[in-house]
Amino acid sequence: MKRILSGMQPTAQLHLGNYLGALKNWVALQNEPDSENFYMVADLHAITVPQEPEALRAATREIAAAYIAGGIDPAKSSIFVQSAVPGHSELMWLLATMTQMGKLERMTQFKDKAGKNAERAGLGLFAYPVLMAADILIYKATHVPVGEDQKQHLELAREVASTFNTRYGQDFFIQPEPFIMGAAARVMSLQDGTKKMSKSDASEKSRINLTDDAETIAKKIKKAQTDPEALPETLAGLEGRPGAKNLVTIYAALADITPEAVIKDCAGKGWGEFKSALADLAVEKLAPMTRRMQELMSDPAEIDRILAQGSEKAGALAEQTVRQTREIMGFWQRP
Ligand code: TRP
Repeated sequence: MKRILSGMQPTAQLHLGNYLGALKNWVALQNEPDSENFYMVADLHAITVPQEPEALRAATREIAAAYIAGGIDPAKSSIFVQSAVPGHSELMWLLATMTQMGKLERMTQFKDKAGKNAERAGLGLFAYPVLMAADILIYKATHVPVGEDQKQHLELAREVASTFNTRYGQDFFIQPEPFIMGAAARVMSLQDGTKKMSKSDASEKSRINLTDDAETIAKKIKKAQTDPEALPETLAGLEGRPGAKNLVTIYAALADITPEAVIKDCAGKGWGEFKSALADLAVEKLAPMTRRMQELMSDPAEIDRILAQGSEKAGALAEQTVRQTREIMGFWQRP
């Protein structure tokens, strides 16, 4: 049996990159036979940078709404909130005692986020990958779908699992397999095809948010970066043309076809024509999702019901792992 776990941080609005690069793949995984799926809202990770309490609460519900609107089915997958399962934090501490500082210092995400002033970065930011290891190991997840940027963290989770197993001489934690998501995993900024589409980009025009209306989507696509040449005859003709390549990638992912097929259909077309086809496609694919998301957002009680149910299911499993971990490590347990 496969057990699949992944999560996103509730830090801002979700955008097209999150949908095509993550959510859409999760939906496909959920429908595989013989798999159990856990999708969490990683709010404990979000607080590694300061968050406004009310904004955090709203963003938590919003991400959950996006999961559901994007096709995660609460009947097939547990949708839950990380902080609502206290075992994550507890296991993190236990695992922190067997994680080397040197390994955490080598994490590129930490280096990027802490910047030059690593001395002033919070302990939470530094320990972030240990919490992520706890998230994964607590469910004994076998597969973890993540973007390229999280691969190093997953490698750490594998190492921590192995350190624990070696130290206690048991095959207790499962080493999770990374599941690096395919071609569409890298949706780039609409304004700069060399940068990832990101919620932290200052320019709204750089991304399509899952809450954008049709008009906004069309406008952002029309303004997207391209170059003076038309669409090439072959895929190789996109090399060195990051803006052009990005739009072809997005088209392919939305249409569920390969970039080769897009090029075959559109070779020689001008960008004006291509962009208007892309805008139509994006609106067609995203509109039902946006509508469902808005419906859910106006009914927070329904979101809360789904999150409570998912958190209960995840919590039962997590509690069992933490209890066994305490036992193995030699903690006194309430009889
Ligand atoms: N760190 C991940 C990100 O920012 C989110 C995350 C937290 C996660 N815990 C996880 C992803 C566990 C996979 C598994 O994208």
